[in-house]
Order: sequence, then structure tokens, then C-alpha cells
Amino acid sequence: MTQEPPPWIAASSGAGGDVAASYNWEHAESLRSKKMAWSPWRVRPEPPNAVPPIMLTGGIPDPDSLPIDDFIASNERVLRREGMFALQYGGPQGYPGLREWLAKDINRREGLDLRAENFVLTCGSSGGLENLVEALINPGDVAIIERPCYPGSTRVIMSCLAEIEGVPVDADGLDCDALEQTVARITAARKTPKLLYTISNFQNPAASTLALERRQRVIEICRRNNILIVQDDAYGAITFGREPLPSLFALAGGDGAVLLGTFSKTLATGLRVGWIMAAQNIVDAVTRMRFDMGVSPWTSRMIADFCESGTYDEHVPRMIEIYRRKRDLMLSSLEERCTKFARWNVPAGGFFVWLELSEGVDPVALDQATLEEGVGYVGGKAFFDNGDGANYARLCYSNVAETEIPEAIMRFGRALERASAH
Ligand SMILES: Cc1ncc(COP(=O)(O)O)c(C=O)c1O
Repeated sequence: MTQEPPPWIAASSGAGGDVAASYNWEHAESLRSKKMAWSPWRVRPEPPNAVPPIMLTGGIPDPDSLPIDDFIASNERVLRREGMFALQYGGPQGYPGLREWLAKDINRREGLDLRAENFVLTCGSSGGLENLVEALINPGDVAIIERPCYPGSTRVIMSCLAEIEGVPVDADGLDCDALEQTVARITAARKTPKLLYTISNFQNPAASTLALERRQRVIEICRRNNILIVQDDAYGAITFGREPLPSLFALAGGDGAVLLGTFSKTLATGLRVGWIMAAQNIVDAVTRMRFDMGVSPWTSRMIADFCESGTYDEHVPRMIEIYRRKRDLMLSSLEERCTKFARWNVPAGGFFVWLELSEGVDPVALDQATLEEGVGYVGGKAFFDNGDGANYARLCYSNVAETEIPEAIMRFGRALERASAH
């Protein structure tokens, strides 16, 4: 099948479009590597109505609260003070000043004794996962993920040609009995279960948090079977109320567990700065393997200045209040409009509400009805690598304007009603 050339080629090829005409796109298809992994993302067609859709899709920060002026101030200070260093390569482990701040901050919150050496700066937490699995996973190793799971991570793990096994998640996080059975099945098949990937706080998409007793049990199961725990803590700082639970890294005494962190959700996704927090042997493996020339020293130094000046500690509680208000508004709107068609749990942090659709709701009809009503959501299937999940939906409250939430949920409720009539 001949493919259309990508639009930038067509646009740049001048009146005759010669570049596009001379390139064999079928050949380009054949260049795709074996690492090209499954992707659930689909482009939805243009809505057939004139109503501009309200999107409850992207798990990204509130656009009005991005700290742009503070970033400008930090940026200017950094370039004037240390521009020569900010504008050079920074090495595979990343700017030590930011790693020192991270160590201090996490030591204070978790009562640990980490040093800058325990951190590697990465291109967000997704880049951290990529660096980690590239260093640790061999083709054919088995990686255990949660079902549902953030599909970007599933993709990254699959791209290392690992086999994937999924363990269900309920309101208290990963189901430990199912984990135990899954590990037994893998080892009985003489395969190596190498890694467990878990989003233990305010899971994306299920919005659940792994209970303390389950954290202990996960550590015990993984230790017994020599499985590395990779806790992706993208949303851990966005907590509404109760004290955050200790990380699996802290509970495991830093042995057999790694934590992935990011500034994407607390500050801005465009920074592309996150980190791997790990014991020295894992840090060494990652930095030895890595050859992407590291994270931008400029951005890392700008973030370090922002954090050291105390602005980060003022910013995060402000963001949490915004998300708490939006969550409450989304929950009360759902309560008003949607109880007949779905159920959900109350997220204690993070960006999402995860809906289990009632039996009578037809997910295909819902997809069409939301298009026509003008509201965007993510269908549950996107979060399951095994084709399940059609009877779930993820709604995100972080990025939509607060004033639009009631209208968005009213539209979603109407779409649910229409999809139930089938
Ligand atoms: C669980 C989880 N991990 C990682 C990411 C990607 O984060 P980053 O921007 O830090 O790569 C996301 C983004 O939605 C996420 O939900």
C-alpha cells in the first residue's frame, strides 16, 4: 500500500512536490524496527457538529497556572551566572546541583539518606523508564505491568522486546494474590520475570493508590523472586489531604526497587526533566548504557534555580488546591448526571477519574455520541495491552478550565444516556 508522504515533506517540496514523488514510502515502512511497539493512540475524526469539544483527555497541568514568569526569572539568572556551563553537554547522569536538590527534598520527605549519586536526570519519567529498561531488559525477559496501565510505559517496555504479563488493579492498587500467581506461572514456564512496573500513587488511569500492607507484600514477593520493582511516581506529589505513603524504594531500604520521578505534572510537561532514583549499581548500569548525551543542562539548571529559590515549594501547594477544586467539581457533576450509567472511586490525588460503565452502555455508541455532543475522553481500551477495558472510561480534570467542567460532564452524561438506549 502506498502511503501519503507526511505533510511536512509535501509542504516543503515546492510547487512540483518532487521530493515526495521521488521517495519510496513503502521502503520507509520496511525500515521500521522490531522495537516499534504497540500503540493504542488513535486520532479521532473531526466532530461532525459545530460545538467546539471540551477535552477531558490530556493528563497535563492546568495551563493558566504554568509558572512562566518565575521560569523567565530563573532562566535569566542561570544564563547570566552560569551560561557557559548551561550551554554545554552535561554528561549522562545530569546536572549535580539538581540531583543534590532532589536528594535533599526526598531525604526530608521520606527520611532517607540519599546523595546526588543516587539520581540520574532523564527526559521525563518516560525517558527514565526507557533508559532503565534498555539497561536491564533482554529480549524475552518478562515484565509485569498493571492492568490498566499508562500505555506510554507499556509501549516503552514492549519496545525492549520484553514479554508482558498484566496484573489487575483495584481500589487499593495492584492485586497481590494475582501478582503471586502471575509470577508462579512465569517461572513455571521457565521464563525470567525481571521487572514489575507500578504506578503506586494515584494510578494512571485507575486513580487508585497501593495500600501500605500491599506495598509490603509486593516487596516481599518481588524480593523472593528477584524481580526489580519500578515505581513510576509521576503523580505522587499531587496529593489531596492525607500524608503520602512511603515509596516502595524507602520501604525496601533502597534494595530491589527504583523510583521514577518527573517535573512534568507538578511544573510543566514541556520541561522534559525527570529522574531515576536508585541504588548505585543501577545508576551505574543506566549511565554506562545511556548514549543520548543526557538531559539539557540549561533546563536542569533553570529548574534547580527555581527549586532552590523556594518557588517550587510555594508552587506545588497552589497547584494541588487547583486540582482538588477541579476534582470536587468533576465528582459533584458526575454525581448529578452520571450515576445511572457508571461508577467511580474518589481519587485521593493525581489528575483522573476512572469510570466503570454500566452493563447497558455500549462503548462504541458512547464514542460516537461523545463526538457529537462535543466532549473528549479516553476509552478504557487504550489502557489494556490485551484488548480488555472497553467498559471503562478515563476523564481528566487537570487541564480543562474549571468553569467548563459542569458543561463537559453534562455533555458526557447526555452521551452516556444516548449510548445506553442502544
Ligand atoms: C504514569 C505516567 N508516567 C509517565 C508519564 C510521562 O511523564 P513524563 O512527561 O515525565 O515523561 C505519564 C504521562 O501521562 C504518566 O501518566
